[in-house]
Amino acid sequence: MSDNNFYITTPIYYPSGKPHMGHAYSSIIADIFARFKRIEKNNVMFLTGTDEHGQKIEREAQKNLKKPKEFCDEISLKFKDLTKTLNLSNDDFIRTTEKRHHKAVNEIWNRLVNSKDIYLSKYSGWYSVSDEAYYSDDEVDTKNNLKISKISGSKVEWVEEESFFFKLSSWQSKLLKHYESNPDFILPKSRKNEVVEFVKSGLKDLSVSRTSFTWGIPVPKNKKHVIYVWLDALTNYLSALNFPDEKNVKYKNFWPANIHVIGKDILRFHAVYWPAFLMAAKIPLPKRIYGHGWILSDEKKMSKSLGNILDPLDIIKKYGIDQLRYYLIKEVSLGNDGSISLKSLKDCINNDLANNFGNLCQRVITFVEKNCNSCIPNCKKFFKEDQIIFESIIKKVPELKKLIDKQELNQYMKEVINFSFEANKYFNDLKPWDLKKDNIERMNAVIYTILNQIKSISILLYPVIPGSSEKILNCLGVDKMDFNIDCLLDTNYLKMGYKIKKPGILFKKIEDDN
Ligand code: MSP
Repeated sequence: MSDNNFYITTPIYYPSGKPHMGHAYSSIIADIFARFKRIEKNNVMFLTGTDEHGQKIEREAQKNLKKPKEFCDEISLKFKDLTKTLNLSNDDFIRTTEKRHHKAVNEIWNRLVNSKDIYLSKYSGWYSVSDEAYYSDDEVDTKNNLKISKISGSKVEWVEEESFFFKLSSWQSKLLKHYESNPDFILPKSRKNEVVEFVKSGLKDLSVSRTSFTWGIPVPKNKKHVIYVWLDALTNYLSALNFPDEKNVKYKNFWPANIHVIGKDILRFHAVYWPAFLMAAKIPLPKRIYGHGWILSDEKKMSKSLGNILDPLDIIKKYGIDQLRYYLIKEVSLGNDGSISLKSLKDCINNDLANNFGNLCQRVITFVEKNCNSCIPNCKKFFKEDQIIFESIIKKVPELKKLIDKQELNQYMKEVINFSFEANKYFNDLKPWDLKKDNIERMNAVIYTILNQIKSISILLYPVIPGSSEKILNCLGVDKMDFNIDCLLDTNYLKMGYKIKKPGILFKKIEDDN
């Protein structure tokens, strides 16, 4: 696999209800990394999709008096539409009801059977349909006469049925060894520690088939069973690469995945079960599992069952998609939980986007219109203060790349916004409106410098606010092919004499009653 291939995935979403902010959050994070890797000129494959089998979906379809497939077709479409609304740059959208996925799941199952990692027995224990997860006795609590999972808080029910088991217990020491020799396999660090503790406490074999319902992929050669929905779902990361055709160019280029972006609630499945399944099936492991925190509303996880959902579609309609993308990333520290509210959304849009970066662009472009005949000025000579500001961004590029590689998105944003403060300060300090009176040559150099800074900041913000950055870059005559780090580093890129186009209002300030 060449070094410049990069494969990133989101979780695949249960099409059990309409998409909410938590789903939008996982997808936006992954999109930002995918876009950054593209501006670094990597060959990127970005995957998202829907997880359509299992009891949760079967029951939801029944409630809606629909056949499961018909129900999934409808809701999966909403998730597909959401990829457009969120301006995701995904290269594929996988549905676990597709043929290509069944093929991959069958292959994995057969490999696990052949490696003798699967045996037939009986499961009796707790199961949460809402989490599609098994819980042990000590993970279950009683609340208001209801049995619930201590981990997720969702209702559990007692299940007793014939089941195939995966010999998870026999992978315990190999998993621990993998975590130890690949210290960045699970990030952030705090999540890694949780997983290591869990695995050290002892792994039990995992039930990987169900017999009490039928909505799933049948177990090969034993149609009474359907494959456990998590074994089914996790395989999506491979099926989108045409696995089991290991000679296929997609598989060759993109497996092992560089990163699976997931929420912390599904860490166990990705950081324990998935690598164990893969090791047993003799498939290389993904390089990183990143477990982000939860979006909270009133300090509680935002979820359908709690009824505390801020609808992403409402917010996008009212304030704009880039505004939402920017806010979620800026407001919530990536690995931790974070509360969101309309009040802080408005403050963030006004302070960072409207008053800082938006205002910088607007002021400079208006100045160019009025004083430079709307053209990028001609200039020959730059001064030390121009060089300093050019270099302040250029020198930081290697560090910015590292921050993204470590998923330190909040620090990245801080640095980029700081460039915008710096550029505003440069514009104010050098007062081109005064230079206009007696030093046009110097005024031209200052304007060129500031336009160059706007170009660079727009490229760095492109992964986060792609629509608005594109508007600004277009206005400066930057070709879409050049939305990349090389263009950022090229301080002569902007064509002198190029007539800039007006971008229109970039970020509207939100008034209090709005
Ligand atoms: N179908 C499984 C994932 C299978 S991946 C092989 C699933 N689906 S989900 O629709 O319930 O959730 C998908 C993602 O949304 C998870 O990463 C979850 O953490 C995220 N979010 C759901 N609610 C959330 C918040 N309130 N905040 C942040 N993300 C949360 O799990």
